[in-house]
Amino acid sequence: LSGGPLQGVHAVVTAGPTHEAVDPVRVLTNRSSGKMGFAVAEALARLGAQLSLIAGPVSLSTPPGVKRIDVQSADDMLQASLAAAAQAQIFVGTAAVADYRPAQTAPGKIKKSSDTLSLALSRTADILSTVRDRHPALFMVGFAAETESLVDYARDKLRRKQLQMVAANEVGGGRAFDVDDNHLIVVEAQQETDLGHAPKTELARALAELIAARYLALNPS
Ligand code: C5P
Repeated sequence: LSGGPLQGVHAVVTAGPTHEAVDPVRVLTNRSSGKMGFAVAEALARLGAQLSLIAGPVSLSTPPGVKRIDVQSADDMLQASLAAAAQAQIFVGTAAVADYRPAQTAPGKIKKSSDTLSLALSRTADILSTVRDRHPALFMVGFAAETESLVDYARDKLRRKQLQMVAANEVGGGRAFDVDDNHLIVVEAQQETDLGHAPKTELARALAELIAARYLALNPS
C-alpha cells in the first residue's frame, strides 16, 4: 500500500514449518500453522513495505500485496531467504524451521518390516544466522517459542544470532500452535515490550509498528 511509513523498504518474512523428506511419502516437520508469519507479512505490507513472504507448507491464503515464495525444506527456505535478503532492509524469521533433517532421503517408500526403525538425522543450517553473516546491515527480527525462562532465552537468542529484536512467546499446554491468539514479549538490547495476549493479527500489527519505529529511528529518511 502506498503512503505508509515503510514505503520504499523491502521486508522478508519466513513463515510456517518446513518439511524434511524421509522418503517420497513421509516428512519430518514442526507444528506450525504459519498464521503468525502471514499476519506479520500482511501488517508490514499495510505499513507500506514491499514484502517477500517465504512460506513453508501451510494452508493459508496469500495476504494482499505480498509476493509469496513457496518452499518445502529448511535448505529451500535458506536459499530463498538468502536470495530475497540481498534486496531487503528488514528480515523477520517467524518460520518454525526443522532443526534436523534425515541424513539421507530414501529413494523409495520405506517398508514396515522391523519392529523398530532408526533414522540418522543431520543438523539443518540456521537461517537467521546465515542471513545475518551475509547481510550485516539488515534489521533482523527472530521469534522464540519457549516453555520456560522465556525472556532469558530470548535475550540469549538476540545476542547469539545478532538480531535487533526477538519476539518471544510461551508455548506448551495448547498455547501458540494453530490457535488464533498468542502472547508476545518483544526483547531488544535495551528494553522489553509486552504486547500482551491478543489475536495473532492484532499482535502482528503491534509488532510491525514497533519494527517500523525502530527501523526508521535507525534509518531516518
Ligand atoms: O534457535 P531457535 O530455533 O530457538 O530460534 C528461533 C528463531 O530462529 C526463529 O526466528 C526461527 O525462524 C529462526 N530459525 C532459523 N533457522 C533455523 C532455526 C530457527 O532461522 N534453522
